[in-house]
Amino acid sequence: MAERGMTSLCLLHGVNLDMLGRRDPTHYGTLTLSELERQVARHAERHGFTVQPFQTNFEGEMVEELHRIAVEGAGAVVINPGAWTHYSYAIRDALEMVTAPVAEVHLSDVSGREEFRRRSVIADIVAVRVAGEGIEGYFKACDALADIIGLGVQG
Ligand code: DQA
Repeated sequence: MAERGMTSLCLLHGVNLDMLGRRDPTHYGTLTLSELERQVARHAERHGFTVQPFQTNFEGEMVEELHRIAVEGAGAVVINPGAWTHYSYAIRDALEMVTAPVAEVHLSDVSGREEFRRRSVIADIVAVRVAGEGIEGYFKACDALADIIGLGVQG
């Protein structure tokens, strides 16, 4: 089992997710992004993950963060790309270079909303997908990633 806190988990949020808390609560809940990040970090720590949060509204910045992760490595990646999910081949291409297992998470039920949200251009290259479960979906994604890389629950 990995040493406590030694495995990095990159928690990536794309466009408009910095506005959580002001977006439609019926889809996205009422938590702010920093509160969500704090709760996900606390949950992920039980597996020995150290969470590295990152958010940007600029596609190129997300691409560069994915390049950094591809080059430097990471234990695991959780990404909610926001609307980029549905059309960004640039994010997809960058994500393809990441060797760590990746979970795609959406707060809302993307399959039950507008037609354009049903398509994810990263669905076939991620190890885990969770949607429509709010913050619980992030917890599930962390649990699934911990399983994949062989971390248990510690402490
Ligand atoms: C989202 C779903 C996307 O369709 C939307 O564009 C978002 C957030 C979610 O978490 O439910 O910005 O990824």
